[in-house]
Amino acid sequence: MTASDNSSDSTHFGFREVPKDEKAGLVRGVFDSVAENYDLMNDLMSGGVHRLWKSAMIDWLMPRKGQHLLDVAGGTGDIAFRFLDAVEGDGRVTVLDINHAMLSVGQDRAIDQGRLTGLDWVNGDAQSLPLPDKSVDAYTIAFGIRNVTDIPKALREAYRVLKPGGRFLCLEFSKVEAPALKEFYDFYSFKLLPEIGGLVAKDKPSYQYLVESIRLFPDADRFAEMLREAGFGQVKYRRLSGGIAALHSAWRL
Ligand SMILES: C[S@@+](CC[C@H](N)C(=O)[O-])C[C@H]1O[C@@H](n2cnc3c(N)ncnc32)[C@H](O)[C@@H]1O
Repeated sequence: MTASDNSSDSTHFGFREVPKDEKAGLVRGVFDSVAENYDLMNDLMSGGVHRLWKSAMIDWLMPRKGQHLLDVAGGTGDIAFRFLDAVEGDGRVTVLDINHAMLSVGQDRAIDQGRLTGLDWVNGDAQSLPLPDKSVDAYTIAFGIRNVTDIPKALREAYRVLKPGGRFLCLEFSKVEAPALKEFYDFYSFKLLPEIGGLVAKDKPSYQYLVESIRLFPDADRFAEMLREAGFGQVKYRRLSGGIAALHSAWRL
């Protein structure tokens, strides 16, 4: 079974098989535990490269002034802040996340950075968005979709809340193809990364889950197919850093 398989009562939580109705609680536990160290760990684990990927996401989005972005699994606000900078504060972002602790860190960061307007912080689930149909200009999700139990349902929700002509962008870990890079990447992710998580964030199991969840996420072609199945058009993707991550773009037509 892959993370995109929707036909059984169980699903993956990392490499463990768990009942579907338990996964969201387990994922919530992971992000409760990592929230305080999340931003530091992102920089440490990726050597800062996650910043380049997030900038690539905003570049491809080409935000326009006055737009309303829904950033799902928005966590500590990285995508929201970049969007607001791109539109010079003339826009609105709803940052939606299932985890209170991540949102709370994001709200503190916003205050520290003097970002007092244009941001709504909403506790909610990607699978049942608390927004009306056809209400947002753009939908982004960065490193969030692989944590969702029912990915096709989340994609249908993304389609529902986008206005016709609205844009969908997803940044997610993907599959490394070059054999030499793959060997190094596997060693780094399975051997080193959980150790770094244990030392810095004092939570090896959560970082073990993160690595395992990356391996189970569908490859870029399959994820593009899932977007088409949810109704999206003009589906395209770009591989980043040799396929370590991928950016998918799609439109509600
Ligand atoms: C790896 S973090 C990414 C945060 C941020 N987007 C970034 O790129 O830095 C994944 C986020 O997904 C959130 N998440 C997991 N499952 C979710 C769901 N079903 N609905 C909404 N958010 C979810 C987690 O709480 C966490 O904040």
